Amino acid sequence: MATASTIILGTGSYAPARILTNADLAKMVDTSDEWIRTRSGIRERHIAAPGEATSDLAVAAARAALADAKLQPKDIDLLIVATVTPDQPLPAASCAIQHKLGIPTHAACFDLNAACSGFVYALDTASAMLASGRYRHALVIGAEKLSAITNWKDRTTCVLFGDGAGAVVLGVSHEPGVGLLGTKLGAYGDSADLLCIPRGGSSNPATAESIAAGDHFIQMKGKEVFKIAVRAMEEAARDILEQQGLHADQIALVIPHQANLRIIESISQYLELPMERFYVNLERYGNTSSASIPIALDEARRAGRIKRGDITLLVAFGAGLTYGAALVRW
Ligand code: UT7
Repeated sequence: MATASTIILGTGSYAPARILTNADLAKMVDTSDEWIRTRSGIRERHIAAPGEATSDLAVAAARAALADAKLQPKDIDLLIVATVTPDQPLPAASCAIQHKLGIPTHAACFDLNAACSGFVYALDTASAMLASGRYRHALVIGAEKLSAITNWKDRTTCVLFGDGAGAVVLGVSHEPGVGLLGTKLGAYGDSADLLCIPRGGSSNPATAESIAAGDHFIQMKGKEVFKIAVRAMEEAARDILEQQGLHADQIALVIPHQANLRIIESISQYLELPMERFYVNLERYGNTSSASIPIALDEARRAGRIKRGDITLLVAFGAGLTYGAALVRW
């Protein structure tokens, strides 16, 4: 019998109803539609309603993925939620999501924080757990309410982020050569300070002063992060292609983390793979961190951009600084 591999049985995504355009942002901070579009490619982003939590976005995406997979919450015995914005610091968002969906109490539920690379990390983790033979169906979600950790007075970051969720249902197949072919994960912990929330954790608990200074919000040295992102994503893509004995030309579609159009264009140039092979939706969502790849994956599938036999490359980069790449054959 062929060795078991992890396959994607269904995908789903959800974005909150409210749309914040670049023109709206120009009324809030000293910026312009032109600056945001030319520097990042973003035109608008979705913003959750005040009472809408990350778990609500995740549940909507998960329901769509379960329906696509023709499975029920009772079929799930492993739930991994990639997020940097759980509903509250403790407990994990996955437990709220388990409860809201009605996933059984025998299911393993936990959150995973690898920032914008979180979905690829969660995919790899779920795949290894499925390969152990102790789980049958995994639900992997990337969900973020970044608007809750964004400093709406800081024009260098607030124009970039958005809210949303994407989900996949995973199962095991014995058909040779399909599913998750391989993954490559890594991190540059020495550059963690370039993209972080400085206060509010155990090393630096929040104080009234730190909150007044906005140190409980995301801070980023964009230019430095940009350079490392391009290099790390290109290297991760090359490494995984080499690991699998594939050439870039064999990739039907790349689903990159949606942070900046210029980052994606640079990777396209370095890999000598035309932009038509890259799925881009950041103009409508902004950067949704761990939700960006599963939202794009779901959209690409539903738009008919992924066909049976196609090889898809997922490639991510985020705070940590983490990176990850995964190859999937459909
Ligand atoms: O998801 C995790 C990974 N994240 C990323 O990969 C993000 C990586 N970084 C980026 O996407 C880009 O660096 C940004 C979009 C954040 C910024 O683009 P940039 O071309 O690197 O611009 P910059 O930071 O060098 O800023 C250029 C100028 C500065 O003014 P001076 O110093 O040249 O006078 C900024 O103060 O633009 C100014 N600026 C703005 N102007 C209008 C910064 N933010 C804004 C703004 N509107 N929102």
